[in-house]
Amino acid sequence: MSTVVVMLGPPGSGKGTQAKRLVDVLGIPHVSSGDLFRHHLSEGTELGRMAHGYMERGELVPDRVTVEMVIERITQPDCDEGVILDGFPRTLTQAEALDEALREQGMAVTLAPLIHVSDEEVIRRITARRVCRDCGAVYNLVFEPPQEEGVCDVCGGDLYRREDDDPETVRHRLYTYYKETSPVIGYYFAQGLLVEIDGQQPTADVERDLRNAVQRLGEPA
Ligand code: AP5
Ligand code: MG
Repeated sequence: MSTVVVMLGPPGSGKGTQAKRLVDVLGIPHVSSGDLFRHHLSEGTELGRMAHGYMERGELVPDRVTVEMVIERITQPDCDEGVILDGFPRTLTQAEALDEALREQGMAVTLAPLIHVSDEEVIRRITARRVCRDCGAVYNLVFEPPQEEGVCDVCGGDLYRREDDDPETVRHRLYTYYKETSPVIGYYFAQGLLVEIDGQQPTADVERDLRNAVQRLGEPA
């Protein structure tokens, strides 16, 4: 049976950090819609150029192109056993399109963990975030600093600050989250798939709670 995990939570709640850790537990790929857009941007594709304006304003890229890009990725053979989705779906239209695409493959969403973090903590974490330009590893200058300033521990690549990580844009991303993505939480709650996780804890404790939630999958209720 396949496993499809949908990571939910505001910007900076730790979706990417935790999704990467779940890859080893579940043995299925991590697909982040934000990372796919940033890849297109760095490759200079038409899709990347189109998405850029929305991303730098902290708004959502239109559903049609987002759905097409993500569905194209998750229908690749490496996702046959399932996938950990991060940053998608972010609207009800995206959630319904995902269900339809999964249904066509005899799959369905199995778990939707919602990582709760306060708005103040979001701003604190995001403004101190650094990301490796080469391998995408995520650091935090306060909570999880690299051993050497500006250098990735994993691959030695350059660390950079995401263009949309300034406080003003982060506040707008939070607004967009409450306005557009809140209904998606209700969508999964109604299906009994939502699991609420305290994201204010240290990373290892959040990981433990997530692992427990994943391990309860398939156990009798
Ligand atoms: P996206 O890349 O998805 O950004 P986001 O949702 O705003 O989320 P982030 O990546 O900022 O945060 P995260 O939850 O992954 O946190 P992280 O693990 O890095 O989207 C970017 C843009 O692309 C959107 O604004 C939109 O324009 C577009 N887009 C993407 N998907 C779209 C879609 N489906 N539809 C339309 N448009 C879309 O952690 C954050 C920091 O905190 C790090 O420094 C980390 O080290 C640190 N940290 C993590 N956990 C902890 C902890 N427990 N304690 C202390 N620090 C921690
Ligand atoms: Mg992320």
